Amino acid sequence: MKRKMIVAVAMAAAIGAGATTAIAHGGASGVVKERMDSMEALGDAMKELTAMMRGQQDYGAERVRSLAATIESHGGEALTRLFPKDSLDHPSEALPAIWSDWDRFSALSDQLSAYARALAAAADNPRPSGGAQGGMMGRGQGQGQGMMQGQGVMGGGMMGGGMMGGGQGPTAEMLAQMPPDGVFFHLADTCSACHQSFRKKQN
Ligand code: HEC
Repeated sequence: MKRKMIVAVAMAAAIGAGATTAIAHGGASGVVKERMDSMEALGDAMKELTAMMRGQQDYGAERVRSLAATIESHGGEALTRLFPKDSLDHPSEALPAIWSDWDRFSALSDQLSAYARALAAAADNPRPSGGAQGGMMGRGQGQGQGMMQGQGVMGGGMMGGGMMGGGQGPTAEMLAQMPPDGVFFHLADTCSACHQSFRKKQN
């Protein structure tokens, strides 16, 4: 009898905890929830690509193309249609600047799809081998590290100096000729550029 009680209490606690997490994570509904889910899918794809680029997971061109296709499908029109005017319901982290600077917002959204396509096109290009990162980042050692640091200064002038201004980066055609690692960098830069302008600060 007593045992049953304890189990019941434990179960209630577990269910309760689950519910709390769900609320903490979202409480979002409608189009806000839809775009958060879409962004989560982008995040998952980028996480796996990051692991491959850093050598924490085996590189597979086929897998890269598949992840790139996922990203492409969430960009462009598919992304912008999830931002109807002034849709800022709690707990959205979107900024009103989206609608006052819609041209740039949609340009970045288009760029996301274009760069994802470029990554798919570049998936079989030769990669900088092993520990030597070649000239890609202008530094010779520490593959993973170069990548990390590169991301840290995203848009800060090392590679993407022009990005911050008008959402202009290299063309997708140029990128398709690069090592996939380089295309990935520019793709990640596109995520950051949009978040920097159009999403509340996370910390
Ligand atoms: C065109 C602009 C734009 C681009 C490009 C973009 N995002 Fe976002 N992202 C946003 C906005 C705006 C939000 C906030 C949405 C909200 O809270 O209503 C957001 C939110 C997110 C979130 C948080 C979702 C949540 O559950 O709160 C993640 C994760 C994310 N983006 C990942 C990515 C990744 C990864 C990429 C690149 C592959 C990317 N985004 C590209 C605009 C963009």
